Amino acid sequence: RTVAVILAGGIGVRVGLGIPKQLIKIAGKAIVEHTLEVLEASSHIDEILIVMNAGSLRELDELKDPQRFPKLTRIIPGGDTRNDSTQAALAVLGDDPRTKVLFHDAVRPFVDDRILRDCVDALDDYEAVDTAIPSADTIIQVDSASHITRIPDRSQLRRGQTPQAFRLGTIRHAYELANQDRSFHATDDCGVVFTYLPDVPIYVVDGTPENMKVTEPIDVHIADKLFQLQSESLSASPESPDLTGKTIVVFGGSYGI
Ligand code: CTP
Repeated sequence: RTVAVILAGGIGVRVGLGIPKQLIKIAGKAIVEHTLEVLEASSHIDEILIVMNAGSLRELDELKDPQRFPKLTRIIPGGDTRNDSTQAALAVLGDDPRTKVLFHDAVRPFVDDRILRDCVDALDDYEAVDTAIPSADTIIQVDSASHITRIPDRSQLRRGQTPQAFRLGTIRHAYELANQDRSFHATDDCGVVFTYLPDVPIYVVDGTPENMKVTEPIDVHIADKLFQLQSESLSASPESPDLTGKTIVVFGGSYGI
């Protein structure tokens, strides 16, 4: 069994629109709804759970529609941090430690079926899987005085995306250990496995530039444009929508393609 967890527990302070950013409507639907549609349509996903910002749970009532979203079994309240939201999901995912579980940011609506398939397949050989793309920018490390302390070799760096995928028993074990550590701090779930189960190899599948996270105000505009291009290519060729060429024309500079 493969379960996808949509993490929608945040509020989107950086976008700063006064509503949780996953509820911003783009191309006629809330961002979280677009994400849900992609997961629902995937043959690699059996069941979907949404972890929603507790103060806005009711906003998702209309998604509880078994005709439209038969795989969506639960919508539960999230926690104060992303890791708390992950753990809220882990608490209700059942007893089978071999269940495959994918955690995906609600605000990455352009995840595609190839990425989902690669994550699910990789769990046949690995206990933990991340999704990432190369970094177009040089990444520098700085100290508190804004002096560069390190410039890691860019060819070895990747920008982490989601999904992050795990066998249920492994991610639960990692969090059990993390919860015993009073200095626990992580922003993602692979970080928890990496820190607390250092012997577990984490495989990385290729993400895409389109699988961006809506984080800053500009990202809302970029996402809007991407949906526009997606619907244009869907109407042009319903069989194989391909954003790549168009994305290069419009966003060549920003994505560094
Ligand atoms: N998330 C979550 N529970 C939290 C915080 C974040 O499920 N307590 C989810 C967000 O809803 C989002 C994803 O994790 O889909 C990625 O997090 P991020 O982009 O940091 O979202 P926010 O925390 O909402 O953004 P900000 O930091 O700007 O407030």
